[in-house]
Amino acid sequence: MTAFVDTKAALLEQRYGANQQKPTNIIWTPQVEAMLSHKSVRTFLPDALPDGALETMVASAQSASNSSGFNQWSVVAVTDRELKQKLSNTIARTVPTDRIPWIEEAPVLLLWVADLSRNAEITREQGSEPVVLEYLDSFLMASIDATLAAQNASLAAESIGLGIVYLGVMRNAAKEVAEIVNLPSNSFVTFGMAVGHPDTTRTSSIRPRPAQPVVLHHNSYEQGRYREYVDGYEDACLAFRTKQEMKPKTWRGAVHEGATSMSYMGGRENLRETVIARGFKLR
Ligand SMILES: Cc1cc2nc3c(=O)[nH]c(=O)nc-3n(C[C@H](O)[C@H](O)[C@H](O)COP(=O)(O)O)c2cc1C
Repeated sequence: MTAFVDTKAALLEQRYGANQQKPTNIIWTPQVEAMLSHKSVRTFLPDALPDGALETMVASAQSASNSSGFNQWSVVAVTDRELKQKLSNTIARTVPTDRIPWIEEAPVLLLWVADLSRNAEITREQGSEPVVLEYLDSFLMASIDATLAAQNASLAAESIGLGIVYLGVMRNAAKEVAEIVNLPSNSFVTFGMAVGHPDTTRTSSIRPRPAQPVVLHHNSYEQGRYREYVDGYEDACLAFRTKQEMKPKTWRGAVHEGATSMSYMGGRENLRETVIARGFKLR
């Protein structure tokens, strides 16, 4: 019993850092414990995924809720080494070189696709133009559904001892990525996900999150409340960065950089054009 309590306390300590306030009334289940244990994995062993891992991830992904039951997402599992290398090289041209070695290292790269192509075809086969699919909301729906599917898949992967990292960086070269894996019109790689066996000699720690009042509002949004909690979060982030031997950087500084540095976009500033060229009208 003591060990049980200790594990939970340790998880909360890692998730929120030593000094931030933590919820004291978590209803612990194995699923909750697994979610609170999440950390992105960026160092992989070369071993292939166990038999059934991909299918388990996809069944989990398909079990996520999806808008109107329209199943408007797909996933391309890239295992071919040359193809993976080609995708990695394509992205490497858009980011500093040390930023993406995990794309090549992971045995599988999943490309999560917001996919209106099937439903457009099914509609046309019935003699009509899919006019609703031309609207921004349809694009958003497909993107949301691809994301929910991916998150379920990630939890499944983690539950069988694999590690994952999402790869928004795939959107830096959205046009080329779509061409390389032969995506049809009306579909778009929302993000990638590297999957594999974590190399535990090189993996990172659980990354802290801000105290709950920063994100949780009761009944009505309290603008600016986050301010009183930011210093506490900075302390937790600094402790994490120090432990990971990352160069010191404040969270506020990172937020500022992310919101002001166009180099951070790495090509994603052209996304609207690419998405429209891929057949989404975004009305
Ligand atoms: C949609 C999305 C895209 C992401 N893209 C990248 C990426 O391109 N490269 C990367 O190293 N990490 C990427 N990440 C991982 C985040 O940096 C990571 O989830 C965040 O720092 C929190 O760390 P944790 O997942 O270890 O808790 C992405 C995460 C999400 C949700």
